[in-house]
Amino acid sequence: MIIAVDGPSGSGKSSTARGVATRLGLRYLDTGATYRAVTWSAVERGLDLDDTAAVAQRARDLELEISTEPGNQFVIADGTDITAAIREPRISEVVSKIATNLDVRHELVRRQREIIDDAQPSGGIVVEGRDIATVVAPDAELKVHLTADQDARMSRRGAELESGAVTAEQLRDQIVRRDADDSTVSQFMVASDGAVTVDSTHLTLEEVIDVISRLAKE
Ligand code: CDP
Repeated sequence: MIIAVDGPSGSGKSSTARGVATRLGLRYLDTGATYRAVTWSAVERGLDLDDTAAVAQRARDLELEISTEPGNQFVIADGTDITAAIREPRISEVVSKIATNLDVRHELVRRQREIIDDAQPSGGIVVEGRDIATVVAPDAELKVHLTADQDARMSRRGAELESGAVTAEQLRDQIVRRDADDSTVSQFMVASDGAVTVDSTHLTLEEVIDVISRLAKE
């Protein structure tokens, strides 16, 4: 069983996909975390992010352990726990650049498919990202395209703003500018046949989880 959840930044796909996995007793894979991990490693080593060959080599060499336990998420790269570090604005600001590197995508898609295969004996997995239904797992039993309008996506991240984790400018950058940067990434994500679009603008998280869990049982 594979459930693909694709959508833009702030559409609520992480909380939704994790919630669905918990509800249905499935594993969970946040593919964005793999792009963030390569970005972290390239930044940490001071690589020129425009040097596509060097960054792709880093992606291939990186030792990456990513948790598929929905209630216990962690990312370990080359022995360092980078679970929190990959969410820092310095990573969010440049991750789209790494995500447009075709050789990086090739390597990460390969690793993501391995993780998905490994999860099958335990019942299946909910996989979250941008290109899951189109590229990573086109055979997924359920494909969800999660959307929400830009205001809803900004306000959902308001808690991060209030906690001081990000400034208003960083938040706007993450939602609006990364949407634009990711439109380059979208060239790899032609709309997938058979995907169900769920607009979460006027739904609570619980309601979205209900809708998707129900679809999965059909
Ligand atoms: O949750 P948020 O949208 O802020 O970011 P994310 O899901 O952690 O993904 C970070 C970045 O990785 C995105 O902005 C995309 O550039 C890239 N990405 C991708 O290209 N393909 C995926 N399957 C997942 C993420």
